[in-house]
Amino acid sequence: MQKTLILFIFVLLSLQSPGQTALSETSAADPGTSNPNAPGIAIIPEPVSVSKSEGHYILPENLVIQAPALPELKQTTAFLQERLSIPTGSFVSVVNSPGPAAGIKLVLNDKPNHTLGNEGYQLSVTPNTITIKANKPAGLFYGAQSLIQLFPKEIESKEEVTGVEWTAPCIEVTDYPRLGWRGLMFDVARHFFTKAEVKQYIDAMVRYKYNILHLHLADDEGWRIEIKGLPKLTEIGAWRVDKVGEFGFFSPPGPDEPRNYGGFYTQDDIREIVQYAAERFVNVLPEIDVPGHSLAAIVSYPELSCTPGADKYRVRSGEQIMDWSRGAPPIALIDNTLCPANEKVYSFLDTVITQVAQLFPFEYIHMGGDEAPINFWQKSDAIKALMQKENLKNMHQVQGYFEKRIQKIVESKGKKFMAWDEVLEGDMPSSAAVMSWRGMKYGIEASKKKHEVVMSPTDYAYLDYMQADVITEPKVYASLRLSKSYQFDPVPPSADARYVKGGQANLWTEQVYNIRQAEYMTWPRGMAIAESVWSPAEKKNWNNFFARVEQHFKRLDIAETKYAPSVYDPIFAVSRSADKQLIIELSTEVEGLDIYYSFDNSFPDRFYPKYTEKLTPPKDATTLKVITYRGKTPVGRMMVMPIEELNKRSWKR
Ligand code: ACM
Repeated sequence: MQKTLILFIFVLLSLQSPGQTALSETSAADPGTSNPNAPGIAIIPEPVSVSKSEGHYILPENLVIQAPALPELKQTTAFLQERLSIPTGSFVSVVNSPGPAAGIKLVLNDKPNHTLGNEGYQLSVTPNTITIKANKPAGLFYGAQSLIQLFPKEIESKEEVTGVEWTAPCIEVTDYPRLGWRGLMFDVARHFFTKAEVKQYIDAMVRYKYNILHLHLADDEGWRIEIKGLPKLTEIGAWRVDKVGEFGFFSPPGPDEPRNYGGFYTQDDIREIVQYAAERFVNVLPEIDVPGHSLAAIVSYPELSCTPGADKYRVRSGEQIMDWSRGAPPIALIDNTLCPANEKVYSFLDTVITQVAQLFPFEYIHMGGDEAPINFWQKSDAIKALMQKENLKNMHQVQGYFEKRIQKIVESKGKKFMAWDEVLEGDMPSSAAVMSWRGMKYGIEASKKKHEVVMSPTDYAYLDYMQADVITEPKVYASLRLSKSYQFDPVPPSADARYVKGGQANLWTEQVYNIRQAEYMTWPRGMAIAESVWSPAEKKNWNNFFARVEQHFKRLDIAETKYAPSVYDPIFAVSRSADKQLIIELSTEVEGLDIYYSFDNSFPDRFYPKYTEKLTPPKDATTLKVITYRGKTPVGRMMVMPIEELNKRSWKR
């Protein structure tokens, strides 16, 4: 009753400003940097073109969605039905034949609109009707994602919310992606994530129009996919000792510690994940990482290494197995490499790849190839004999020999071979697709040599890196702030753009123990990467983007998806004055924030000193505490920085 009254008043108010005067081409970031709390158009990724008009579409209590009766559209209509009914309490039905009652119309173009391609859409919101048009079902799905982002944030709720005006602003959107490969890699090997968690991750990624889920399925810490005929891979290779702390430096597990932590996907699980993803227009790229990162396979079948030995190997539980002190490739303390000189390795991989090819319909299989240590190969007589027989001059060529044989196996199953950029050192044919991770330069080089390339450089796209200072973030060896992620240009001018398929962000999970932390690491940087691969490069604008991100923080709060607030944490820089005094400089990643601080151990708030110039700590101070505010509202976390830590940092420079 109350809801009807509110609607009635709202209709009256909107009647006072009739018509739909097209205002102008609007940047989608009308949320207004001046007042980020004001709701506005805040679509992420930024569409190609947005034109806003006067007026609103008011969601009726009985909504009819009209859509073609196609199986590929079932998920799109189900998604709209769920979002538009659960929070609103409206009754939402779907019809397949055209009729005047339809409030939302999904239309597949009879004649293709070439500008839109396979994934583009046009979204039109008028006071009477919402229409999404596309050439292909994927476009309608993406149009539906944008449409939901036009409704109030409460539309994300999993339960009914009262007192909200369920309206969407009148708008015309034309939108299509910059790039066809918009990937997120989820490492399910270092920590295992259940089938339900993988689906949850997919639900979150499609909101931002990602279309590739790269699953890293095998590594030193676990083998995650059932392979018929190789039962030990999942009986033994999927399990390790459960440990928490700083991964990589755990104490070596004792012989009696239970190896009951981990898990794997059965082939039915994989089919279910692949189908779930496909219904949401996501292709799943499987990765089996070889010849390095292969300890889980070797534990299961030790004869696959150049240094076999019964009972010698254990699935890694996070203890140190590599020495990185001399850089890449690392020195393996335990042999975690498959043996390129052993024919059994190729028949093993043939079995694995045959089944992977059958389970995953996507045209590529990723075969790893990164960070393969050579120290055990160097000592192996079998490798020496192989080098002589095949005239291989060095270990790069040994790995190259291995990769070329694997590429042949992959191609014999009707798939395309993809690997990390190290494989370029083995002189691969241009038919090998490359995922560039050690910066952009290998991807640029590969594109010039006519390799297909996906850019996923550590500099911009590594989601396992810390998002702010180590004193607030779970410790990782490197950092990547949101603003840096947003600078990602997957097609730099020096690359041959014809060969750059797209870009990808990678979530490695050594330090990610659960799905909530996986979400925390992915968002908001995943929004920055999504915009970098979808939106026109010339439309990217940091302030505009961040204003939209803040709107999305509120949406994710309601959707109960975790994200990192690290962007609000101030940045500490230290130096020494001429007389060796410690000087502390604070700055913020985003504009319009105030930093308040204390040196007296108490918790600062906005009644404390505001940071305006460089600080020198009082003589005996032990702690600098800081917090950021926007106006009267705290937005950052309380950061507790020991002066001792700042002293150490200042001497390191
Ligand atoms: C990688 O990050 N080792 C591909």
